[in-house]
Amino acid sequence: MKPLNQVLLHPDNRVGVDFKRWQRHGGGQGLEVALLEEPESLIGMIRDAGLRGLGGSGFPTFRKWEFVAAERDTVEKYLICNGNEDEPGTFKDCILLEETPFQVIEGATIAALATGVSRVVFYINPDQEKSLDAMIRAVEEWESTDLYFAVSKKMKRPLSYLVKASAGHYIGGEETAAIESVEGKFPFPRGKPPFPARSGVHGYPTLINNIETLANVPHIICNGPTWFRELGLGEACGTKIYCLSGDELYPGANELPKGTPLVELIQTYGGGMLLGKGLKAVFTGGPSNTILTPQDLDVHLDFDSVQERRSSLGTGAMIVVSEGTGIVKRVTEYVDFFAASSCGQCPPCKTGTYYISMLLGKIDTGEGTQADLDSLVNLCRILPGAGRCHLLDGAVKVLESSLYHFMDEYRRSICN
Ligand SMILES: Cc1cc2nc3c(=O)[nH]c(=O)nc-3n(C[C@H](O)[C@H](O)[C@H](O)COP(=O)(O)O)c2cc1C
Repeated sequence: MKPLNQVLLHPDNRVGVDFKRWQRHGGGQGLEVALLEEPESLIGMIRDAGLRGLGGSGFPTFRKWEFVAAERDTVEKYLICNGNEDEPGTFKDCILLEETPFQVIEGATIAALATGVSRVVFYINPDQEKSLDAMIRAVEEWESTDLYFAVSKKMKRPLSYLVKASAGHYIGGEETAAIESVEGKFPFPRGKPPFPARSGVHGYPTLINNIETLANVPHIICNGPTWFRELGLGEACGTKIYCLSGDELYPGANELPKGTPLVELIQTYGGGMLLGKGLKAVFTGGPSNTILTPQDLDVHLDFDSVQERRSSLGTGAMIVVSEGTGIVKRVTEYVDFFAASSCGQCPPCKTGTYYISMLLGKIDTGEGTQADLDSLVNLCRILPGAGRCHLLDGAVKVLESSLYHFMDEYRRSICN
């Protein structure tokens, strides 16, 4: 059995708002190294480590950092540390914020040094009161430490930190919606371009990274890119916090080598299926991706391997569903969530998610017809790509893959 929680969720980091204890256990060493390095060298280390965004997209972190670092003709730059985390099944960032606040602050500070950011915003789901409270207290303590003064000295100005309650709605985690929210507006996603790296909060260059992404940064800078790469299995780099929930014995957040096989996550760390039932499906990355089935149990949980199965690792959330669970009902619940989360700005998203939720509801309650089922299949063809952000695409992916794998169940649910 591979050791759990080796890096980010290591007990040495999980000291809450206790700076001295955190430092005694090695906290802050990554930042001390970073203070001696040039920005280009820090970005190079993140590139060589192969760190990819853990907020869902898997975008190479160093590329975003390069874009923001390249924006030199500006008086301010922002970093939004994205802890909105509102998608079903995802509950990793709140653990990091609440239990390892200094690790997150250290990662964000190194990102600021590497990219020239002057304002750091910790953007945290308002329902996660303990995370907000921990970060407010931790930032206050951090700002009186020698480390903080050393950073401000190197930057030749004080680095400012703000802890802000995020928009909270699922859509508020989308990067441009987060920018709107930080500006005090309703989180309507913006069209791109311009990309946030060029024009984000109040028109200033803005870097947006997920909390887990940033939490990895101090360890990479302290221990080196090779150490980080070797933590993963095969080609995958580092570790991943997999949020396991649903019908297994032990749900929870497990930090494991990236690339751990799905079967191992469920059987070894999740304790197997409840009541000895068989596995029916896994909703991955939050429920906004293509469903995995028992044929995919051997898939290695890293970005490329999951993509080869035409799904996505997303946030690393795995919602496990056992035999006997009605897929139509489950998909209806998730699509209802997406419909309720649509900001309403793009008509195809607003009406599309509403319409598929309505059709699914009819089928789920035994009132649907073959024509309704045909409409769902058609909508899966015309809706993708019609919204400004990926919310609509996520809703369609889960629907389309459920129709593909479980059409028999849909057929049995209709009334003619
Ligand atoms: C509808 C929607 C909701 C999202 N919610 C979150 C979120 O809560 N947290 C997050 O980090 N990223 C979220 N994302 C992804 C962000 O847009 C962005 O890619 C991410 O914050 C970038 O950080 P990373 O590169 O470190 O992953 C969401 C995306 C979409 C389309």
